[in-house]
Amino acid sequence: MYTYEELKEFAENCGRCELCRTRIHPVMGRGSLQAQVMLIAEAPGAVEDREGIPFAGPSGRVLDQLLGEAGLSRQEIYLTNVVKCHPPGNRDPWPKEQEACIAYLKYETLLLRPKIMVCLGRIAAQRIIRPDFRITREHGTFLYRKNTWLTAVYHPSAILRDPGKLEETAEDFRRIRKQLDQH
Ligand code: URA
Repeated sequence: MYTYEELKEFAENCGRCELCRTRIHPVMGRGSLQAQVMLIAEAPGAVEDREGIPFAGPSGRVLDQLLGEAGLSRQEIYLTNVVKCHPPGNRDPWPKEQEACIAYLKYETLLLRPKIMVCLGRIAAQRIIRPDFRITREHGTFLYRKNTWLTAVYHPSAILRDPGKLEETAEDFRRIRKQLDQH
Protein backbone atom coordinates (compact mmCIF):
# COMPACT_ATOMS: atom_id res chain seq x y z
CA MET A 1 0.00 0.00 0.00
CA TYR A 2 1.16 3.58 -0.68
CA THR A 3 0.49 6.89 1.00
CA TYR A 4 -1.04 9.78 -0.92
CA GLU A 5 2.33 11.56 -0.96
CA GLU A 6 4.03 8.48 -2.41
CA LEU A 7 1.40 8.16 -5.15
CA LYS A 8 1.76 11.86 -5.98
CA GLU A 9 5.50 11.48 -6.26
CA PHE A 10 5.16 8.41 -8.51
CA ALA A 11 2.78 10.38 -10.76
CA GLU A 12 5.17 13.31 -10.90
CA ASN A 13 7.91 11.05 -12.23
CA CYS A 14 5.65 8.78 -14.26
CA GLY A 15 6.68 7.69 -17.73
CA ARG A 16 4.25 4.77 -18.16
CA CYS A 17 2.70 6.19 -21.34
CA GLU A 18 3.40 8.71 -24.10
CA LEU A 19 1.43 11.48 -22.37
CA CYS A 20 4.47 12.13 -20.18
CA ARG A 21 6.20 13.66 -23.24
CA THR A 22 3.61 16.38 -23.77
CA ARG A 23 2.21 17.08 -20.29
CA ILE A 24 3.25 20.11 -18.22
CA HIS A 25 2.04 18.72 -14.88
CA PRO A 26 0.60 15.33 -13.99
CA VAL A 27 -2.64 16.07 -12.13
CA MET A 28 -2.99 13.89 -9.05
CA GLY A 29 -6.37 13.60 -7.36
CA ARG A 30 -7.10 16.15 -4.63
CA GLY A 31 -9.37 16.58 -1.67
CA SER A 32 -10.07 14.92 1.64
CA LEU A 33 -8.51 11.50 2.22
CA GLN A 34 -11.46 10.86 4.58
CA ALA A 35 -14.01 11.68 1.88
CA GLN A 36 -17.06 9.46 1.55
CA VAL A 37 -17.57 10.65 -2.01
CA MET A 38 -15.00 10.23 -4.75
CA LEU A 39 -15.59 11.90 -8.13
CA ILE A 40 -13.76 10.56 -11.15
CA ALA A 41 -13.48 12.28 -14.52
CA GLU A 42 -11.54 11.26 -17.60
CA ALA A 43 -8.34 13.30 -17.88
CA PRO A 44 -7.04 16.80 -17.10
CA GLY A 45 -7.78 19.62 -19.56
CA ALA A 46 -5.37 22.35 -20.69
CA VAL A 47 -5.90 24.59 -17.64
CA GLU A 48 -5.44 21.63 -15.28
CA ASP A 49 -2.24 20.71 -17.16
CA ARG A 50 -0.87 24.21 -16.52
CA GLU A 51 -1.95 24.38 -12.89
CA GLY A 52 -1.61 20.76 -11.78
CA ILE A 53 -5.05 20.86 -10.08
CA PRO A 54 -8.14 18.89 -11.19
CA PHE A 55 -11.03 20.99 -12.46
CA ALA A 56 -9.16 24.29 -12.19
CA GLY A 57 -10.76 25.55 -15.44
CA PRO A 58 -14.28 26.56 -16.54
CA SER A 59 -15.82 23.10 -16.01
CA GLY A 60 -14.61 23.35 -12.39
CA ARG A 61 -17.02 26.23 -11.80
CA VAL A 62 -19.92 24.07 -13.01
CA LEU A 63 -18.70 21.25 -10.81
CA ASP A 64 -18.61 23.51 -7.72
CA GLN A 65 -22.18 24.58 -8.43
CA LEU A 66 -23.27 20.91 -8.72
CA LEU A 67 -21.46 19.96 -5.51
CA GLY A 68 -23.43 22.72 -3.82
CA GLU A 69 -26.65 20.91 -4.89
CA ALA A 70 -25.49 17.94 -2.81
CA GLY A 71 -24.48 20.22 0.09
CA LEU A 72 -20.85 19.36 -0.57
CA SER A 73 -17.66 21.29 -1.25
CA ARG A 74 -14.26 20.34 -2.65
CA GLN A 75 -12.80 20.19 0.85
CA GLU A 76 -15.01 17.22 1.81
CA ILE A 77 -14.82 15.20 -1.38
CA TYR A 78 -11.97 13.65 -3.34
CA LEU A 79 -11.68 14.57 -7.02
CA THR A 80 -9.58 12.67 -9.52
CA ASN A 81 -9.29 11.44 -13.11
CA VAL A 82 -8.87 8.02 -14.77
CA VAL A 83 -5.80 9.39 -16.60
CA LYS A 84 -3.56 11.82 -14.74
CA CYS A 85 -1.94 13.60 -17.71
CA HIS A 86 -3.52 15.91 -20.28
CA PRO A 87 -4.12 14.29 -23.69
CA PRO A 88 -2.93 16.75 -26.37
CA GLY A 89 -5.69 18.67 -28.11
CA ASN A 90 -8.09 17.54 -25.38
CA ARG A 91 -8.80 14.25 -27.17
CA ASP A 92 -10.29 11.31 -25.25
CA PRO A 93 -7.62 9.30 -23.43
CA TRP A 94 -6.80 6.15 -25.38
CA PRO A 95 -7.49 2.72 -23.83
CA LYS A 96 -3.73 2.00 -23.59
CA GLU A 97 -3.23 5.30 -21.67
CA GLN A 98 -6.12 4.39 -19.35
CA GLU A 99 -4.55 0.97 -18.85
CA ALA A 100 -1.14 2.47 -18.05
CA CYS A 101 -2.66 4.87 -15.50
CA ILE A 102 -5.37 2.79 -13.84
CA ALA A 103 -3.15 1.58 -10.98
CA TYR A 104 -3.10 5.14 -9.57
CA LEU A 105 -6.89 5.14 -9.40
CA LYS A 106 -6.92 1.70 -7.79
CA TYR A 107 -4.54 2.88 -5.06
CA GLU A 108 -6.52 6.09 -4.56
CA THR A 109 -9.65 3.95 -4.09
CA LEU A 110 -7.87 1.70 -1.59
CA LEU A 111 -6.69 4.74 0.37
CA LEU A 112 -10.12 6.31 0.58
CA ARG A 113 -12.54 3.38 0.51
CA PRO A 114 -15.33 5.81 -0.47
CA LYS A 115 -19.01 5.14 0.15
CA ILE A 116 -19.95 6.53 -3.27
CA MET A 117 -17.97 6.81 -6.50
CA VAL A 118 -19.36 9.30 -9.00
CA CYS A 119 -18.18 8.99 -12.60
CA LEU A 120 -18.17 12.34 -14.38
CA GLY A 121 -19.01 11.57 -18.00
CA ARG A 122 -19.06 8.62 -20.35
CA ILE A 123 -15.34 7.82 -20.45
CA ALA A 124 -15.06 7.37 -16.68
CA ALA A 125 -18.41 5.52 -16.49
CA GLN A 126 -17.39 3.08 -19.23
CA ARG A 127 -14.07 2.47 -17.53
CA ILE A 128 -15.43 2.07 -14.00
CA ILE A 129 -19.01 0.89 -14.25
CA ARG A 130 -19.45 -1.03 -17.55
CA PRO A 131 -17.84 -0.78 -20.99
CA ASP A 132 -21.25 -0.30 -22.62
CA PHE A 133 -22.58 2.22 -20.07
CA ARG A 134 -24.95 4.71 -21.75
CA ILE A 135 -24.62 8.05 -19.99
CA THR A 136 -27.72 9.55 -21.62
CA ARG A 137 -29.97 6.74 -20.45
CA GLU A 138 -28.29 5.64 -17.25
CA HIS A 139 -27.00 8.78 -15.52
CA GLY A 140 -28.25 9.11 -11.96
CA THR A 141 -28.73 5.35 -11.45
CA PHE A 142 -26.90 3.50 -8.66
CA LEU A 143 -25.16 0.16 -8.56
CA TYR A 144 -23.63 -1.51 -5.50
CA ARG A 145 -20.27 -3.22 -6.00
CA LYS A 146 -17.56 -4.21 -3.49
CA ASN A 147 -18.93 -2.08 -0.63
CA THR A 148 -19.25 1.02 -2.79
CA TRP A 149 -22.17 2.71 -4.53
CA LEU A 150 -21.36 3.58 -8.13
CA THR A 151 -23.15 6.21 -10.18
CA ALA A 152 -22.47 8.47 -13.16
CA VAL A 153 -23.54 11.95 -14.16
CA TYR A 154 -22.92 14.15 -17.20
CA HIS A 155 -19.43 15.63 -17.38
CA PRO A 156 -19.44 19.34 -16.37
CA SER A 157 -18.01 20.26 -19.80
CA ALA A 158 -21.06 18.59 -21.44
CA ILE A 159 -23.18 21.02 -19.39
CA LEU A 160 -21.09 23.96 -20.62
CA ARG A 161 -21.78 22.80 -24.18
CA ASP A 162 -25.48 22.17 -23.46
CA PRO A 163 -26.82 24.12 -20.46
CA GLY A 164 -30.10 22.21 -20.89
CA LYS A 165 -28.38 19.33 -19.05
CA LEU A 166 -27.80 21.40 -15.90
CA GLU A 167 -31.11 20.80 -14.13
CA GLU A 168 -31.15 17.01 -14.55
CA THR A 169 -27.53 16.85 -13.37
CA ALA A 170 -28.39 19.01 -10.36
CA GLU A 171 -31.15 16.46 -9.62
CA ASP A 172 -28.58 13.63 -9.89
CA PHE A 173 -26.40 15.43 -7.33
CA ARG A 174 -29.36 15.83 -4.96
CA ARG A 175 -29.88 12.06 -5.33
CA ILE A 176 -26.22 11.48 -4.46
CA ARG A 177 -26.81 13.47 -1.25
CA LYS A 178 -29.80 11.25 -0.36
CA GLN A 179 -27.80 8.10 -1.07
CA LEU A 180 -25.03 9.38 1.18
CA ASP A 181 -27.45 10.16 4.01
CA GLN A 182 -29.23 6.79 3.74
CA HIS A 183 -26.21 4.48 3.65
N1 URA B 1 -12.00 17.64 -17.32
C1 URA B 1 -11.69 16.43 -16.78
O1 URA B 1 -12.15 15.39 -17.26
N2 URA B 1 -10.89 16.42 -15.72
C2 URA B 1 -10.39 17.52 -15.15
O2 URA B 1 -9.66 17.42 -14.17
C3 URA B 1 -10.75 18.76 -15.74
C4 URA B 1 -11.55 18.80 -16.81
